Amino acid sequence: MELIRQNPNVQSTPTPPIVQTHNLTKQFGNVWAVKSLDITVYEGDIYGLLGPNGAGKTTTIAMLLGLVYPAQGSVYIAGHSLKTQRQEALKMVGAMIETPAFYPYLSGRDNLYILGSLRKRISAARLDEVLALVGMDAHQYKRFSAYSLGMKQRLAIGLALLHDPKLLILDEPTNGLDPHGTVEIRRLILELAKQGHTIILCSHLLHEVEQVCNRLAILNHGELVTEGSIEKINNENNLEKTFLKLTE
Ligand SMILES: Nc1ncnc2c1ncn2[C@@H]1O[C@H](COP(=O)(O)OP(=O)(O)OP(=O)(O)O)[C@@H](O)[C@H]1O
Ligand SMILES: [Mg+2]
Repeated sequence: MELIRQNPNVQSTPTPPIVQTHNLTKQFGNVWAVKSLDITVYEGDIYGLLGPNGAGKTTTIAMLLGLVYPAQGSVYIAGHSLKTQRQEALKMVGAMIETPAFYPYLSGRDNLYILGSLRKRISAARLDEVLALVGMDAHQYKRFSAYSLGMKQRLAIGLALLHDPKLLILDEPTNGLDPHGTVEIRRLILELAKQGHTIILCSHLLHEVEQVCNRLAILNHGELVTEGSIEKINNENNLEKTFLKLTE
């Protein structure tokens, strides 16, 4: 398939880390949601965060975004400590965790304007640019409630992109989408990477991850079981088999 391996990140020279976690740990009651996690995401990566249900993916992302406070460990984003330089660190990040709450009776454009302005002033030119980028320019004046799920997801990615973050975190962006919607999101992810965004893609859809990511981490019961290039991890050319073996 032509979309495969257009990945810009098959690079020979290493780029600087954009995310580094050390010993990142979170417990909910007596469940270790994330345990001593060390991961590194380099600039330009499309980094897949994989793991079975309950493995700790969303908790990890929530800690990267400062939404969940770790029991132990550290997060650095583009060299800024999330603990001591929170604002500088989070300025770099845009995220979509599930579909955010949009106003159903407002248009896609008005939703982006209102929700985006909560964070930073948004110009009309930036709205135009982002709506075009996520392929929503033709639908921008329709009510949100009339959108298909694929359009809702693209608008949600648009919201995460409004302030032009260096790092974009997407938690299960194709959840519930039909094959057309899935392909559109895949194309968008590749396009965003080409434009210079580093992307963390959290998913349990192995096929999808295999098609877009250059590096991967697999979590199981909160622990990292492997991290590295897709070529290294998928050396048997059967990511499903490798995944099942590593997450038994
Ligand atoms: N707020 C919470 N309170 C209590 N337990 C939680 C909370 N959030 C997550 N957990 C538990 O932590 C573990 C990791 O959950 P998490 O949602 O991070 O996994 P996940 O890999 O994102 O799973 P999924 O693929 O189902 O989205 C699970 O056992 C979950 O039940
Ligand atoms: Mg999750």
